[in-house]
Amino acid sequence: MILEERRGGALHGTYRVERAASIAGEIRPPGDKSISHRAVIFGSIAKGKTEITGFLDSADCEGTLRAFLSMGVRAERLSPHHLILESPGLPDLAEPPDVLDFGNSGTAVRLMTGLLAGVPGFRVLTGDESLRSRPMRRVTEPLSRMGAVIDGRREGSLLPLAIRGGPLTSILYDNHHRSAQVKSAVLLAGLSANGPTTVIEPVQTRDHTERLLPHFGGRVETGEGGVTVWPSELSGTSLSVPGDISSAAFFIALALLVPGSRLTLTNVGLNPTRTAFLEILSLMGARIDPWSDPAGTGSEPFGTLDLSFAELEGISVPLSMIPSAIDEIPILAVLAAFASGRTEIRGAGELRVKESDRISAMVSALRTVGVEVQEYPDGLAVVGEGPDRRLRGGQIDSRHDHRIAMSMAVLATRLPPGDSLLITGTDFVETSFPGFPSLFNAVARS
Ligand code: S3P
Repeated sequence: MILEERRGGALHGTYRVERAASIAGEIRPPGDKSISHRAVIFGSIAKGKTEITGFLDSADCEGTLRAFLSMGVRAERLSPHHLILESPGLPDLAEPPDVLDFGNSGTAVRLMTGLLAGVPGFRVLTGDESLRSRPMRRVTEPLSRMGAVIDGRREGSLLPLAIRGGPLTSILYDNHHRSAQVKSAVLLAGLSANGPTTVIEPVQTRDHTERLLPHFGGRVETGEGGVTVWPSELSGTSLSVPGDISSAAFFIALALLVPGSRLTLTNVGLNPTRTAFLEILSLMGARIDPWSDPAGTGSEPFGTLDLSFAELEGISVPLSMIPSAIDEIPILAVLAAFASGRTEIRGAGELRVKESDRISAMVSALRTVGVEVQEYPDGLAVVGEGPDRRLRGGQIDSRHDHRIAMSMAVLATRLPPGDSLLITGTDFVETSFPGFPSLFNAVARS
């Protein structure tokens, strides 16, 4: 049970979370954040009308939409999750009258930097305090190689970035950061380049950009280890956004942790570049049989997950699975505390440059509640003590990071009766999961 307290005050919202005796029900997770950003981006650069259903009306995705509205795209809002966009087409996006503020969203600002590098006009991109400290060189470097004119703090490595959109040259780029945001930024710039642009992937990252582009009439080829995009004119279409497996992950964890639980999650996106979390859980001993809905075999597959309590075993998470489970590592660390034995998560140094330093945030939060953890430069190891392990309540700082706040809320359902955990900075949950506390309280009974 989550009690929301002091919303909007100096602590930026708090949750007080208590033990749950059971988890039961059927829920539909909110729309996928990565796909919602891309749906708005493609719908705003594809000439004509695009209809989007299942859109995630979170602070992050609304920021992307607002940016396009200030560049001449028109939107009709039929409901919070259903919108129709009308665009003049990519080359005719207007120069916005003011700075484009992407709030907390790394995905939005990095993809938009790539996109806008090739569109005539002057634009300045910025974000909140967390986003202004996150690395941007990873996108400005390949874009500069394409001839983009971009400047920013610390020689283009930090926001704000100023972009003078102009002609771009195609490149062959090795995605050594193993980042879908970097890959997508280069591919989006490639839409305005003078020839085919290729991104080579040492490890496959989420592929929503290359799945969606052909849906809008773009030319893309994906092969073993790489993806190539051709400069293309896109045209409006309609699309439906499935539920976000990264948001579903908190409810998957709830069901696995609480004895006697029974939870069904419907409309969960099951794109194979996003399901490593499920594969890791099955290595730990959980039995999750996702089944695809017949309608879910289109460009973004989705399906239903039936979940119940599981006794988990600690493992060393295979390095190859880390990039596709990167957003689920905080909740995986929580699950690991209830497994039998040690779980080691390495090769995850990227977590240090997310919305917060997620390695340090989870190490400190887990230690506060009594979990033994080792910190590494590129990950952490959690000492699991089984499903009935001892924990203590207290107060933890989510560091204004939505995934830290939600992960620790799940953990707090296993506190001893009468104890509670106070989590600060929870307003940021709205960036990815509006309505998280009420959905949580609908299934977590005390
Ligand atoms: C995302 C890519 C990942 C992920 C982020 C969303 C995307 O970031 O962590 O939440 O939509 O492309 P990186 O590309 O930095 O790994």
